Parts: sequence; C-alpha cells; structure tokens
Amino acid sequence: MKISVSFTLLLLLGAVSAEESTDYQLPFPQDIYIALEQMTASLDQLKADMSFLQRETQVRQVAFSASLGAGAGPTTLGPLPTATTLIYKHVITNTGKAYNSNTGVFTAPVKGVYHFEWTIGAYGDGSHGSGAWLVKNTENVFMAYEYQKAGFMSSSKGATLLLEEGDVVSVHLVANNLVYDNVSHPNTFSGHLLFPI
Ligand SMILES: *[C@@H]1O[C@H](CO)[C@@H](O)[C@H](O)[C@H]1NC(C)=O
Repeated sequence: MKISVSFTLLLLLGAVSAEESTDYQLPFPQDIYIALEQMTASLDQLKADMSFLQRETQVRQVAFSASLGAGAGPTTLGPLPTATTLIYKHVITNTGKAYNSNTGVFTAPVKGVYHFEWTIGAYGDGSHGSGAWLVKNTENVFMAYEYQKAGFMSSSKGATLLLEEGDVVSVHLVANNLVYDNVSHPNTFSGHLLFPI
C-alpha cells in the first residue's frame, strides 16, 4: 500500500513539473494538497473496510463436530434424576472454536442461521429410554428419543436455528434416560453456521 502511494505521488509531481515547464498556469499547490488529502482519506477508508472484511470472513467460518468420548472402553451414563448437559469431549472439527469441549456448550460468535445435528443411543434395559434435547439458551428445542426393551436403540435429529451473537446451544440427556458410549462413537453433536444475518 505504501509503495503504491509513493508511486502515485511521484506520478502526480512528475506530471505537474512537466506541465509547469510549458506555459500552463496550473493551480498549484492548493489543488494538489486537496487531492492528496482526499486520496489519504480514501486510503484510510479502504484500510478500514479491508480489516472489517477480514474480521467478517474469520467470524463466518464456524463448524464443529464432536463425539462423547475419545473412543475409550464402553461406558453407560444414566439414568440421572435431572437433565444433564452432555459434554462431547472427542472433537474432530472446531473451526472458529465456538464449541467448548470442557462444557459441551456452543456459543454463537455472530448473529446468523445455524444448523445442528445430534445422535443419542444406548442399550435398552427394559425401563429407560435414550433421549436428548437440543437446548437453545434455556429453551428445549427438539428431542431425539428412542425406547426399546433390549438391544441398541439410537435416534438422530437436526435443527436449524436463528441465533443472536452470544446465544448458547448444547445437548441435554433427558432425565432418567441412558446414553452409551464406545469406540464406535455412537453419540455425536455437530453444528455449522449456514449464513450470518
Ligand atoms: C459399540 O457400540 C455399538 C453400538 O453403537 C455396537 O454395535 C458395537 O458392537 C460396540 N463395539 C464395541 C467394540 O463394544
């Protein structure tokens, strides 16, 4: 940027001195100063616009995907007396770092439309289901739920949400429900920014 400014200056000054050698009486130097001031102002504006666009681009790149465990041995969580935030610790993608694997909470970095998907599963024990709510701030949005007496039961859901900057989204194991994890990563939570608004 600096190099091209100096170059433009040289061109301007060169043009002026060339023309001064003829008999033209150019309005010098006031007009040149005004032109330079205007150029400087335009450049400052351009710089501001560029850094704004750079920040915008960074904030638009939001996508994460995680599973409950890191693929350790089989574990069952639940039944628990209250709904509990599931903390998906095995993160395979976290572009934009909007998902926190210590808390299980996704925080929208920008106002926009986001898409989430989650899958929950466990082995049926004859009396408990396997279900999880997608929770936006304090609001239960959709539940993925499956119940069967025996064998592995699993369900998946997706939801598209309009989020304000700072809104939080997480997945809560339904009270008195089960979730089972093993090396197959049967429980996952993913989210993407579709577009900012
Ligand atoms: C892991 O769980 C799945 C059910 O999602 C089951 O089909 C599979 O046999 C289990 N694998 C191991 C190694 O326990």
